[in-house]
Amino acid sequence: MPTELAQQQHDGPLDDGARAALAEQGLELRLVPNADPERFRAWLQAVARGFLDGERNDEQLQAGFDRLAQRRLVGVFDGGAPEPERPVATFASWVAELSVPGGRGIPSVAISSVTAAPTHRRRGILRSMMEGELRRADELGIPVAILTVSESTIYGRFGFAPAAMSGHIEVDVPRARWIGPRPEGRVDFIPRERFREVAPGLHDAVRLRTAGEIEMPDGHWDRFAGTRPDAEHPEKLRAIQYTDANGRLAGVALYAYRENHDDFARSKVGVHRLIAETPDAYAALWRFLLELDLVGELTASELAVDEPVLWMIGDRRAARLTVQDHQYVRILDVPAALAGRRYAVPGAVALEVSDPLGFGEGRWLLRSREDGSASVEPWDGSPSDATLVRLGIAELSAVYLGSVSLTALVAAGRAEASDPLSAARVFAWPETARLSFWY
Ligand SMILES: CC(C)(COP(=O)(O)OP(=O)(O)OC[C@H]1O[C@@H](n2cnc3c(N)ncnc32)[C@H](O)[C@@H]1OP(=O)(O)O)[C@@H](O)C(=O)NCCC(=O)NCCS
Repeated sequence: MPTELAQQQHDGPLDDGARAALAEQGLELRLVPNADPERFRAWLQAVARGFLDGERNDEQLQAGFDRLAQRRLVGVFDGGAPEPERPVATFASWVAELSVPGGRGIPSVAISSVTAAPTHRRRGILRSMMEGELRRADELGIPVAILTVSESTIYGRFGFAPAAMSGHIEVDVPRARWIGPRPEGRVDFIPRERFREVAPGLHDAVRLRTAGEIEMPDGHWDRFAGTRPDAEHPEKLRAIQYTDANGRLAGVALYAYRENHDDFARSKVGVHRLIAETPDAYAALWRFLLELDLVGELTASELAVDEPVLWMIGDRRAARLTVQDHQYVRILDVPAALAGRRYAVPGAVALEVSDPLGFGEGRWLLRSREDGSASVEPWDGSPSDATLVRLGIAELSAVYLGSVSLTALVAAGRAEASDPLSAARVFAWPETARLSFWY
């Protein structure tokens, strides 16, 4: 992402409205400097407490320090508390490129580490932080905000909606039977350090192909590969690579066994990551994993809900698929967000958008063209040949990545459309949105 925008987002001032609202309760909203170890440690301990973790040890704090060095860290402080330097609420954000339909990326503000201490819950602290930080992002012209959630009930009120779902599979391995391709290249074991070295390049080579993916946040690769000093049981991780017939590296995977003490031949394997740049790499890595000896069950998470591997096994009922909401999107700038993605069919939609926080409120005329691009102009509400769609900003955000059907939202009473099918066709994208990790 443009480093200038990332820097502006990181360094920008706090929102005055949020400060004032918290000050009324005797609380202080502050930016926490990444480079100040003491203040950073207090902030990170508050995050750990908020997520029900124990106190972080020095090694974990150092790892967090490295991981969060680029993020904008916000804390809310209560001068009357026994530990006034430990925040009672936390919030982190950074600029990340979000993949949108059409193989493109747009700037987004990614949000994480959101907590309010149990002693200070439900008095509007999250609301103040969220509204203030969204206003800051909007002022910088960042068109969307994104997050992954601990609970799906929290963020709808702020205009977020799940726009990419994730698939979790449990496969009865002896029953599955591989019927997919058997590529000519080779699968080999590699050290975890080698995975750590090559995975970022592979992720960057493929992430724009799939709407919903983002640039990998700092520290995630070391977490996956167990190459961080505070990694838990890194020795359990196995790494493999696929090289094609020409010797070119085209994919990697990480997995770990869980032994079944009652029946060693039905041990479990969890696939932690699989990144494939080519269909051959995809097939070869999955085939390797689904043909492991001594394995009764394979699990993998954060997959696409229509993951191709489900079509590569002979017995579809050997795999159980569970779907969950995963990548949440909140459009801030409707014209910029809608013009930033591509469209599968030409069409015209007149949008009337309501937004309780005001950012996306208004009327727009979206015209998608034959080449996939679109113009998005203000619309004064006068009669138009376009399909009229009335919806809230959360619902528009839900359909933004092209994988949530507008017809479903209309049927659910969450949107109105003069011609639901033609409006839904405009927003739909033929490749399923996915986010392959949590952040
Ligand atoms: C989620 C959390 C940050 C909320 O903070 P908070 O300061 O208590 O929230 P607020 O008082 O600002 O609440 C704002 C609104 O969200 C609602 N809300 C807050 N937490 C909610 C929850 N867990 N489930 C449903 N609604 C919730 C409030 O009822 C309030 O609704 P309203 O304004 O529409 O009446 C806090 O409960 C927390 O730290 N939870 C544990 C960590 C966590 O799960 N964080 C989220 C990570 S994605």
